[in-house]
Amino acid sequence: MKTVFSGIQPSGTLTLGNYLGAMKHFVEMQNDYNCYFCIVDQHAITVPQDRLKLRENIRSLAALYLAVGIDHEKATLFIQSEVPAHAQLGWLMQCVSYIGELERMTQFKDKSDGKEAVSSALLTYPPLMAADILLYKTDIVPVGEDQKQHLELTRDLAERFNKKYNDIFTIPEVRIPKVGARIMSLNDPAKKMSKSNPNPKSYISMLDDEKTITKKIKSAVTDTEGSIRFDRDEKPAVSNLLSIYSLCSGESIESIEERYAGKGYGDFKSDLAEVVVETLRPIQQRYYELIDSDELDDILDHGANKANHVASRMIEKAERAMGLGRKKRK
Ligand code: TYM
Repeated sequence: MKTVFSGIQPSGTLTLGNYLGAMKHFVEMQNDYNCYFCIVDQHAITVPQDRLKLRENIRSLAALYLAVGIDHEKATLFIQSEVPAHAQLGWLMQCVSYIGELERMTQFKDKSDGKEAVSSALLTYPPLMAADILLYKTDIVPVGEDQKQHLELTRDLAERFNKKYNDIFTIPEVRIPKVGARIMSLNDPAKKMSKSNPNPKSYISMLDDEKTITKKIKSAVTDTEGSIRFDRDEKPAVSNLLSIYSLCSGESIESIEERYAGKGYGDFKSDLAEVVVETLRPIQQRYYELIDSDELDDILDHGANKANHVASRMIEKAERAMGLGRKKRK
């Protein structure tokens, strides 16, 4: 069985973009693959975090993974900092990375742009991400479009390591969904929907209530043409709303376009709000059952044990390949 690995940062309440671009696919994949899903808290601290809020976000993300349908009997769910091999291999991967290639990462450029105090970890974040993936002999990494460049670097680093030291890493393949790989902001269709955007009107949080969702969708930007059709270049905002509608309802974009032919944005938006509310309702219900439960801790303990078991073997192999430490006594 092939292995799947993916991670999400606990850096705020997840958005509909995280769900449609990543989590929804994780749930579909868990039946056919050996899956590892990680709460990458060590990635979150590459930018300043409030410690109490971070703790809360870690737990909240764990509950959300389960609430969307990740089944702990099929997939391994764990917290990155509870598996020390991630940081250990992250260091080794830094040693095979070049500063130039890290500086070329668009996410680094975006996040550091114009800022004075940029942590060095923001630069060395991709080698840690590579470590996350390579520890588990991962074959496939399902992510949204914005992670594609990091995945290309992961492949480069793995190949470089294999060639230079020993052929121990599986070269992972990226899997990006055809629709929904880049859900855009509701108030600016040129930007991706992001949990770190300071304007909450730009995103739908997975925990937003019905009233908030309806309000945000009603105030989403559209265009002056007035027709509901998919055209990413000419009508990026409406196309984004159509993608959200289609992904949440399971109906094809063509069929939605047909149904709304001749109708205005008002009707479309109120129906879309209902579709999104109905998608998130069962997830939120399950989330609130789980968030304070012992069950959640049991699942995370179990996940950390399993991940530690697998990851500690790979870190040992990687250290041996590089000549670290001493030879084992017979
Ligand atoms: P993060 O936490 O920013 O996002 C988690 C996942 O959600 C996807 N995503 C989106 N998809 C569609 N539309 C959007 N607007 C949108 N916003 C986010 C992301 O592509 C991602 O799949 N570096 C990663 C976390 C990470 C990771 C890993 C991922 C760390 N180690 C190993 C895979 C494998 C990140 O910051 O994702």
